[in-house]
Amino acid sequence: MGSMGSIINGFASIIVIIVVVMLFVGFKACEARSDLVTYVFGDSLNEVGNNNFLNSLARSDYPWYGVDYNGGQPTGRFTNGRTIGDIISSKLGIESPPPYLSVSKDEDKLLKGLNYASGGAGILNHTGLYFIQRLSFDDQIQSFNQTKKAIERKIGKEAANKHCNEAMYFIGIGSNDYVNNFLQPFLADGQQYTHEEFLDLLLSTFEQQLTRLYQLGARKLVVHGLGPLGCIPSQRVKSRKGQCLKRVNQWVQDFNSKVQTLTTTLNKNLPNSHLLFADTYPVVLDLITNPSAYGLKVSNTSCCNVDRSIGGLCLPNSKVCKNRSEYVFWDAFHPSDAANVVLAHKLFSTLFTSSPLPSP
Ligand SMILES: *[C@@H]1O[C@H](CO)[C@@H](O)[C@H](O)[C@H]1NC(C)=O
Ligand SMILES: *[C@@H]1O[C@H](CO)[C@@H](O)[C@H](O)[C@H]1NC(C)=O
Ligand SMILES: *[C@@H]1O[C@H](CO)[C@@H](O)[C@H](O)[C@H]1NC(C)=O
Ligand SMILES: *[C@@H]1O[C@H](CO)[C@@H](O)[C@H](O)[C@H]1NC(C)=O
Repeated sequence: MGSMGSIINGFASIIVIIVVVMLFVGFKACEARSDLVTYVFGDSLNEVGNNNFLNSLARSDYPWYGVDYNGGQPTGRFTNGRTIGDIISSKLGIESPPPYLSVSKDEDKLLKGLNYASGGAGILNHTGLYFIQRLSFDDQIQSFNQTKKAIERKIGKEAANKHCNEAMYFIGIGSNDYVNNFLQPFLADGQQYTHEEFLDLLLSTFEQQLTRLYQLGARKLVVHGLGPLGCIPSQRVKSRKGQCLKRVNQWVQDFNSKVQTLTTTLNKNLPNSHLLFADTYPVVLDLITNPSAYGLKVSNTSCCNVDRSIGGLCLPNSKVCKNRSEYVFWDAFHPSDAANVVLAHKLFSTLFTSSPLPSP
């Protein structure tokens, strides 16, 4: 990383982001938009508690998850405190949308936004199959389809369409297709496909999925790229000296670059669509490489003791590090609250302010 090409690329995408988001939200920096409705899709990085309602092994409803969340109780968030989405919502002056499975079909709440994200979920249906139940991205889209029908029953078809057109959609998916699928030696996909083939499968599936969301009325979509998965603690332990896995990071960058191209293509092909690719990779990598530049200290291992077999989640009642604000990673997969604050701040300033250009 840090090559001239990627820096220029980074700048270009930031400029695109600024232009598109001005279009999206049309507001000046820091102005609260309490009428903004957001629908969130994705995996454990975005989940706020859907898996508590499922028979899933990908769950975080036990101590010390949530120890730094308001109330100090586990909520189903896969971190010690807030997710990036929680922090961005609060910067926008809106409530972080509740888990889809916690809201019944006749509640007015569903007009204010919902979160469909589910730990273990992937672009591919069978990703994360060893967690038993989870809402795959296809399941999440089908759930949104149900939500839309419920909204239609409440406010009528035309108003429901307008509502869905005006809402904002945040999508962060794909990490599990690597960590809990392609990179698992005992699963078929890593053996059956070359990375090139696997990438084609991911991208063609993702294209259909984003198109379905569009058909359901989504127009303003923020699609998050993947972080440097080769540097998460559960991957580092596979190297001889605890370094980042270069090959994995290269694959992730290939994925990100194809997703960015896909968003450009869909913007051309789907009338009135505004898909925005949010490239989180360089920001996360910088936080991992220079934690002290952000007031953190440790980025090569997790704060809690983790289960090394699958998932890399904290062991129930595991020991936790002395100072949770010093660690980039809470468990072997998920950033800590302290890291999420840094990442949300960076993402927010690229998403929602028009000036000045952030430094690379
Ligand atoms: C994935 O699951 C969804 C429903 O959950 C189904 O509609 C779709 O056909 C499945 N895709 C594949 C490739 O099996
Ligand atoms: C929404 O669900 C209905 C069935 O209830 C199905 O016919 C339709 O194809 C779905 N739409 C999308 C875009 O998935
Ligand atoms: C993390 O980095 C520190 C300092 O560079 C080193 O002492 C420690 O052994 C590393 N831990 C792991 C798990 O690699
Ligand atoms: C914990 O770490 C944070 C960030 O490095 C630091 O600001 C804080 O003073 C530390 N707290 C204690 C009790 O050492």
